[in-house]
Amino acid sequence: MKIIIDCDPGHDDIMAIFSALAHPESIEILGYTTVCGNNLLDEVTNNLCNVLSYLNIKGIISKGAKKPLVYKPEPQPIAHGENGLGGPVFNECNVFPIEKHAIEFMYDSIVDNEKIIIFALGPLTNIAALIEKYPEVIDKIEKVIVMGGSIYRGNILEESEFNIYGDPHSAKIVFDSKLDIVLATLEVCDYCKLSHEIIDGYLNKSNLYKLTYEILNFYFEYSKRKGDDKSPVFDLAVTMYYLHPEIFEGKYAFVDVVLDGSKRGKTIINYNENGNVLVLDKADNDKFEKYFLEDLKLLDNMLKNQNSNQVKN
Ligand code: RIB
Ligand code: CA
Repeated sequence: MKIIIDCDPGHDDIMAIFSALAHPESIEILGYTTVCGNNLLDEVTNNLCNVLSYLNIKGIISKGAKKPLVYKPEPQPIAHGENGLGGPVFNECNVFPIEKHAIEFMYDSIVDNEKIIIFALGPLTNIAALIEKYPEVIDKIEKVIVMGGSIYRGNILEESEFNIYGDPHSAKIVFDSKLDIVLATLEVCDYCKLSHEIIDGYLNKSNLYKLTYEILNFYFEYSKRKGDDKSPVFDLAVTMYYLHPEIFEGKYAFVDVVLDGSKRGKTIINYNENGNVLVLDKADNDKFEKYFLEDLKLLDNMLKNQNSNQVKN
């Protein structure tokens, strides 16, 4: 299946991308579109360029929205560091975004292909702009798998999750459309955790493992400070749902969004079997972690083979 990854990297965005890259047999990444979210657009775009460049991974990166539809950007330095990807320090970067805007890149990719799926790992600004400008693409988007929203709680406000809070107006446009949506809520992410101990020993391994250590070591700090021994890796739930839907549970609903006030970004879930949103609420955490560890191994072998072939040629 052809996939566009719309993201604001972000530690967990990168883990979602690693798992996707590990499965070229079922995921063909047409490109990455970036959106202002966890940090400003230039920062999150540079983070992705740096990661792909460091690992020598090819990919098209296209920059999208510089800000949410109505509100101002609100970078999240506590969770993600000053530049949105605290932890690793990169020297040089030889990957750059293309000139084409994300909306045009998405439109052209959708028109050129039979069907596509979008992984939405940040605020829904780009996707709302796409369907507002080109409503005819809605029928060609098989599904949008979104990390965002919650059933009853929050991580930025008491009842609001960050991606939907970041741009509630765009989220409303997307939920109100006829798009087929899967929603990886905060609640399902309680079952999408990685144990802090998994990264022990990663520093003595390959570049992929070293980078994973640096990214997750920083990311895990937030939960460690609360005394937890596992962290939810939110955006990874999206790739895992695509690869292993059988480990997830959920129910269909129509979803509304609170646009302002103390509940800005709260998702209101109206369960209905005819709803366009599959709201995920449970997953098998053991399998989630096991599959991620397997994906890292797969990607590591792929990168080793690719790099040794390049040396031979
Ligand atoms: O609430 C979790 C979301 O916000 C994830 O997409 C994560 O990357 C953060 O920015
Ligand atoms: Ca994200």
